[in-house]
Amino acid sequence: MSGLKIVGLSGGLSVPSRTLSLVELTVGRIADAARVAGLANTTEVVDIAALEEIGGLRARPGSPAVEAALTAVEGADLLIAGSPVYKGSYSGLFKHFVDFLDYRGLIGLPVALLATGGSDRHALAIEHQLRPLFAFFQAQPLGTGIFFTERDFGNGEITPGASQQRFEQLVDEAVRALAGARRGERNAKATAA
Ligand SMILES: Cc1cc2nc3c(=O)[nH]c(=O)nc-3n(C[C@H](O)[C@H](O)[C@H](O)COP(=O)(O)O)c2cc1C
Repeated sequence: MSGLKIVGLSGGLSVPSRTLSLVELTVGRIADAARVAGLANTTEVVDIAALEEIGGLRARPGSPAVEAALTAVEGADLLIAGSPVYKGSYSGLFKHFVDFLDYRGLIGLPVALLATGGSDRHALAIEHQLRPLFAFFQAQPLGTGIFFTERDFGNGEITPGASQQRFEQLVDEAVRALAGARRGERNAKATAA
C-alpha cells in the first residue's frame, strides 16, 4: 500500500529493548489511527542497534543497510524518534545515527518524541535533550512527548490512566500532523526555508 510514510527510529541498545518495543507500538497505533482517519500509510522501524556497520560509520555513504536506514528517516512524512535516557540524555548510539542525517533532510518534519528511563527524575530529557536536537534540523516535534519508565510501560503494554491518556494525546497529534503532511505543508515549508 502506498501513501504517507511513518518511520520509527529506536536508539535502544538492550536486547530486548523497551525503547524499541515502545517505538514499534507507537508506530502501529498511529498507523491504525491514521487509516481510520482515511490516511493510507506505510510503516518502517529502524532499530539502530541492529545495523551491524553503524559503529564504523564515519561519513556517507555508509553501508547499503545504513544508507537505507538514513534515507528512510529523511524520506518520512512522520518520524517517531525514541531513545533510552542515558546519563540524562539520548543514547550515544542514537546521536551517532542522527549525526549522519542530512541537515536539510528533516525540515518541517513532524516528529513524535519518545524516551524510556529508569526514573522520573529524568523525564525532562525529552524537553532538554531531544527537542533541541530536532530543532537543529528545523523539524516540527509534536507538542506532546512521552517519557515512560517501567511503571508506565511494562510487559509491552501501557499502564491505564495518565500514561495511556498522554499516549493517546500523542497519537491524536500525530494523525493531525500526518493530515497536514498529505496537504503538502511540509514541502511548502521546506521550499520556503
Ligand atoms: C548506561 C546507562 C545509563 C542510564 N542512564 C539513565 C539516566 O540517566 N536516567 C534514567 O532515568 N535512566 C537511565 N538508564 C536506564 C535506562 O534509560 C532504562 O532502563 C531504559 O528504559 C532502557 O531502555 P532499553 O531497554 O531500550 O535499553 C540508564 C541505563 C544505562 C544502561
